Amino acid sequence: MARLNKQQILDAANALAAGNLVALPTETVYGLGADATNEAAVRKIFAAKGRPADHPLIVHLAKGAVLEDWAKEVSPHARKLVAAFWPGPLTIILRKSSRIPKVVTGGQATVGLRCPSHPIAQSLLREFAAIGSGAVAAPSANKFGHVSPTTAEHVRDEFGEEIDRDIYLLDGGPCEVGIESTILDLSREFPVLLRPGAITREQIFQVIGVLPRSREDDERERQDAPRVSGSLAAHYAPRTPLELVPTDQLNGRIDGLLAEGRRVGVLAFSAKPKLKPSPVGVGVRNARPLVWIAASGEPDEFAHGLYANLRTLDAAGTALLLVESPPNNEAWAAVNDRLWRAAVGSQT
Ligand code: TXA
Ligand code: MG
Repeated sequence: MARLNKQQILDAANALAAGNLVALPTETVYGLGADATNEAAVRKIFAAKGRPADHPLIVHLAKGAVLEDWAKEVSPHARKLVAAFWPGPLTIILRKSSRIPKVVTGGQATVGLRCPSHPIAQSLLREFAAIGSGAVAAPSANKFGHVSPTTAEHVRDEFGEEIDRDIYLLDGGPCEVGIESTILDLSREFPVLLRPGAITREQIFQVIGVLPRSREDDERERQDAPRVSGSLAAHYAPRTPLELVPTDQLNGRIDGLLAEGRRVGVLAFSAKPKLKPSPVGVGVRNARPLVWIAASGEPDEFAHGLYANLRTLDAAGTALLLVESPPNNEAWAAVNDRLWRAAVGSQT
């Protein structure tokens, strides 16, 4: 982890108290934070991201924060899950208390609460609890719809000169988990998994004895689907068109594209194969026709590197990104969710 001194944490807490934005590391991805009780400060987040006003933000709390300060009707399920997984990558949705302004929740009566485990996030939240509200509204620190940042460098890439001028950036090194928190809606009769993440449905079942409904199953039951930006089909997207390709079709697809003289970026589980001599010739070859990243076959490690890998491939400027499809099972649910949306988002 990058070294930070105490003064930087204090400066960041002061920036929050003054109604300014702070980009902070969490164990999942970097967040773009503001005092959740300060409407004007929260509006700055929406402006900086280019995020529609009806997309609710997650509110981050220090370990030991009193849930009832921020939520109403805190259920036994919520208490058990908080005891088991906080601090950690689980966001719970509850009915909001009056201390949370509606600008945070996109006008909804519910709020997403999360207690991040990253030590720098925790220090900041503790300091901010001492001098301010202690509640930090923070979406991922990227422009709306784009790939989430997992290093401070990624945050700089997203916001450019706004960093230091309008946004105080805390560098906490690369994020350990690498994809956004699991979101569980506990505000309704039955728990619903709104976004898969590092904490799985099975782990939640182990704690509360109920297997959360998937969002798809829930939507089939109801008309008024919850507003989760992760539920937009297009999200987490690189700028280069991204295609998911089954393992047995990958080499054929690559050969076909190279033969057309197109440059290709690939995220696959195997190492880069030797290129066949191509009729297209030397010009294409000199421009690195095939940019290849071999990713881990283990889901947590794959997730850890996913967004950094997508950014690297995006920056290589190829015509297309091909991602070898991971297995379609529960262990890969969070990764597949991000890849499907990235594929849709990159084509729009
Ligand atoms: O890991 C994370 O959760 C990261 C870090 C920074 O904590 N944050 C994050 O925030 O991913 P964001 O804004 O990129 O995604 C938050 C998701 C959105 O899809 C939003 O719609 C959903 O949480 N959400 C927030 N409050 C909600 C609510 N009251 N009801 C339903 N969905 C909610
Ligand atoms: Mg986001």
